[in-house]
Amino acid sequence: MPIIDAMAIRKIALMGQPVLKEPALPIEDPGAPKIRRLVADMLETMYDADGVGLAAPQVYEPVRLVMFMVPADRVKEGEAGAVPLTVLANSVVEPLDDETIEGAEACLSLPGLVGIVPRYRHIRYSGMTPEGESITREASDYHARVVQHEFDHLDGILYPMRMIDLSRLSFASELGPGPRVMVETDE
Ligand code: NI
Repeated sequence: MPIIDAMAIRKIALMGQPVLKEPALPIEDPGAPKIRRLVADMLETMYDADGVGLAAPQVYEPVRLVMFMVPADRVKEGEAGAVPLTVLANSVVEPLDDETIEGAEACLSLPGLVGIVPRYRHIRYSGMTPEGESITREASDYHARVVQHEFDHLDGILYPMRMIDLSRLSFASELGPGPRVMVETDE
């Protein structure tokens, strides 16, 4: 029988799990086989959950690894375009100015909930791909929101901890119809 290097859907940690609260550790070698396997598992887990982003602590791995993408259908008119799937180890982010903007976010670790979260509108971020390529990008609006949401997971921060007004945390099922551009998943 051939040996198949199968991927696996990992269990997603939910809010309250200690692994989501602690700072994740730097990755020494982003190209190491165990990291490549984790990337493959996270991809399968993210796609299975219909997500557009996932951080390693969400699958019980406390290391600084995130993946995200900006699908074309989530880009609002006037905003920058789609971003292909990006996998980054040891990522860092900095705001480019003080401007913040509110938007709806959901998280695979808080299923069913949606909150209105302020984020920096313009950021610069960088990190290392599993192929060993160093990436630095500037991002704004939804792209910047996704990046800040995912990078926060590496510092033990979930989006409600960034909210100013917790009355704007809701179950998606109780909100009326209307356009909502979400992060990580459409609830
Ligand atoms: Ni999340």
